[in-house]
Order: sequence, then C-alpha cells, then structure tokens
Amino acid sequence: MAKKILLDEQVIPEAWYNILADLPEPLPPPLNPRTHKPMTPDELEPLFPRALIEQEMTTERHIPIPQEVIDVYRMWRPTPLVRADRWEQLLQTPARIYFKYEGVSPVGSHKPNTAVPQAFYNAAEGTRRLTTETGAGQWGSSLAFACRLFELECKVYMVRISYEQKQYRRVLMELYGAEVVPSPSKSTEAGRRVLESSPHSPGSLGIAISEAIEEALGCPATRYSLGSVLNHVLLHQTVIGLEAQAQMATVGEEPDVLIGAVGGGSNFAGLVFPFVGEMLREGKKKYRVIAVESAAAPSLTKGQWRYDYGDTAGLTPLIHMYTLGHEFVPPPVHAGGLRYHGMASTVSWLYRNGWIGAVALDQVSVFEAALEFLNVEGIVPAPESAHAVAMARIEAIRAREEGVPRTILFNLSGHGHFDLAAYDEFLNRGLERSEASDELIQASLAAVPTVEP
Ligand SMILES: Cc1ncc(COP(=O)(O)O)c(C=O)c1O
Repeated sequence: MAKKILLDEQVIPEAWYNILADLPEPLPPPLNPRTHKPMTPDELEPLFPRALIEQEMTTERHIPIPQEVIDVYRMWRPTPLVRADRWEQLLQTPARIYFKYEGVSPVGSHKPNTAVPQAFYNAAEGTRRLTTETGAGQWGSSLAFACRLFELECKVYMVRISYEQKQYRRVLMELYGAEVVPSPSKSTEAGRRVLESSPHSPGSLGIAISEAIEEALGCPATRYSLGSVLNHVLLHQTVIGLEAQAQMATVGEEPDVLIGAVGGGSNFAGLVFPFVGEMLREGKKKYRVIAVESAAAPSLTKGQWRYDYGDTAGLTPLIHMYTLGHEFVPPPVHAGGLRYHGMASTVSWLYRNGWIGAVALDQVSVFEAALEFLNVEGIVPAPESAHAVAMARIEAIRAREEGVPRTILFNLSGHGHFDLAAYDEFLNRGLERSEASDELIQASLAAVPTVEP
C-alpha cells in the first residue's frame, strides 16, 4: 500500500476542466446590478481582464493552462494524494480514506491555484494593481504571493475579526509586499456605511468584497480579484481534481464518496468537478458528493435559490445562487473562509438538481475531528478544511456500521499553522458552539443523497 501517491512534475494538467460544458442547461446569467439585464463582457472590463471574462462565460470543456502559470504551479504541484491509513485503523473502518493535500503550496492552501493565473492574465493585459478581500487570510496571502511574482501591487481588505485573530497572516501578506487594511474600513463609502450603523462590526466577506470593488472601480490601472464563487476561479481549481483522478488511477482506486468544505465553493469544485463532469456526461449519479458548510453560514442547507449580490453593498453583478441574503453577517466562527452568504452558481445548480448533497457542521464537532486526525496523520488542518475532515469521519463510521468498504476522497484544502489561536481556544478556553441548532445539523446529514455505486 502506498502512503503518498505522487505524480511526476511533468504531468501537471495542461488544461483546466470547465463544467459549464457538461451542464444540461445554461445557468441563469449574471445580471447587471443597475439594469437587471444580463451582464455583457464590456460591462465586466473595469473589474477583470478580458481573458478572465472569457473564461467566466465560455462553454469550452478544456481551457489550456498558459506555460507561465504551469511554471509557477511546478513550485508545489502536483500535490500529494495521501492514504489516511493510520486514521482508518483508529476508526476501525473498512473504508479506504484518501485526501488530496493542498497545504503544500507556498502559502499553505489551494488558493494560489487561481491567484497565480489571475495575476498572470492581469499583468499580461496591463493591470498594475489588484484589490481583493480576504477572510481567514489564505486568499489574501495567495494573491499577495502571486502579485509579487508578476510584479503587481496588491491591496487586501481583511475581514476585521480575522485581522484581529490572525495577525501572522497579515504579516505574511505584508512580507509579499501587500497593503492590508481591516474591513469594514473608513476608506470606502461601503465601509463607512457599515461602521455608521454598526461601529463594532466583525466584518464579513460580503462587506470586504464591496470595499475592494469600490476601490478598483475608482482607481486607474486597478482591477479586482476574487478568490472564490466565480466560474473562472472554480475552473482554475480543477487542477486538484484532475490530478486526483490520475493519482487514484495509479493505485487502481475509484472514489465512492467525494467531500470538500465550502465557503464560496472553490476547493470543493476544484476536487469534485472533474468527477461530477463524468456523472453529467454519463447521466448517472455514480459518486456520492458532499459539500460541507459551516453551520454559522449554511447557504446551501438554509439559504434560498435566487438572484443576489455577491457583496453587501450591491456592487457586484447579481448572481443566481443559494444565498442567506447579501446583508447576512455570519457569527464570528474560526473558519473565516466559510463565513460567506452565498455559493457559486454551478455548485448551487448541482445541489438544486440533486447531483451533490450538502451538510452543515458545527465548529466544535469539526475541531474534535481535526484533533483526532492530526494525532494520527500529523497534519493540522485549516479550520475550513477541518469541515471536510469531520465529514470524512462521519462517512468512515457509516461504512463501519454498514460493513461496506467504501473509498472516501476528501480535499484537505489547507494547513492550520496560522490558525493555532483557534485551536488554542478549542483546547484550552472552551470554544463555543456556533449558533447552529442540532436539528439543522441532523436534518442536513439525513438529507445527503445515498448514491450507491
Ligand atoms: C483553507 C481553506 N479552505 C477552504 C476555504 C473556503 O473557500 P472555498 O469554498 O472557496 O474553497 C478557504 C477560504 O478562505 C480556505 O482558506
């Protein structure tokens, strides 16, 4: 049995996989926030370079990865696929558990998979500066790193609660040369409006996005970059799943269950879309695919499927998705990257149409599973990724109870070395459960589709 399944550097995928090619119907298009008519590419140009706008809309199945991007991916890709055999033994499960480990990137998560191409295309089209938001700081540090490589300036609006809890993430961004401000800030209209009504606001991704967009729209040669939700972001992340497919094949395995944590949907989509694409093409639900959200921001399990803004101030296009409402400010749980009111359109559509299931988990149960995992497998999961760990555990125990040797594959989207204050609170200071009710968690667990291969 191989513990780590490693691919040679030469076999980094040459193209990303675009799930829009395989959806049986077109998704409702993004709408202009003022006219409520479908957005045209021209209208998106103040925010994004043309190459990314094209990727946002194309229905081509494979999009070639530029050589300049592959050259950077080679710094850490292909990432390892790891067999969690020590955890299997501890759980006494007949399940085989694999995880794709994205924590080996320079900043410790999957986020550079899209930060690098976004910085590349912006630099190629003359952008000089990028603005963005960050929750836990994983995305901000990824964009700061990518901007440094392609000689762009970078300004990051960091959700205030994370800015206070994760100071070393701020330092990391500053090391890569980025400017970091806590959000809501007084430097934008959107930030000032929130502070007027709520001077101690912990901030949210929705507010920080409004601030970053407002600044990009007002400054020359400045564009905006988003770390999740949009089609082109999910597209870039599919290198994860494409590699995982090749790695599983080398050990003659095929997953029965696929799991990823979801904030806006990017690491989940990155792992599962190449597999879901197979299901869509064959018209058969052959994998059980589970998106795991924070019970503090349960957009899939508790939200509505409708048009909504991607940010709080209503500056983004209206996106058709599951949403808790753009003004929803989630309670300040430790998984900062999961504190988002909406969900990517494609992930929302797949959930609505029964191709994937969703579960909301509470942060205490998530940290308990992470602690068990790190004691046998050694890796400290990021609090976001720990949601996937907790769901893999539930599935492994289910396999034990049912006596079925399923193969479980989950995405360990990042490490938690910058999140030790959260683990400290969990270990030593009585971490509180998030506001979720047990009924929500139980109901969402019961609703996961039970596709048997
Ligand atoms: C390590 C990690 N995993 C998961 C997420 C959730 O985002 P997404 O749903 O876009 O993968 C984040 C967001 O910051 C993150 O940092």
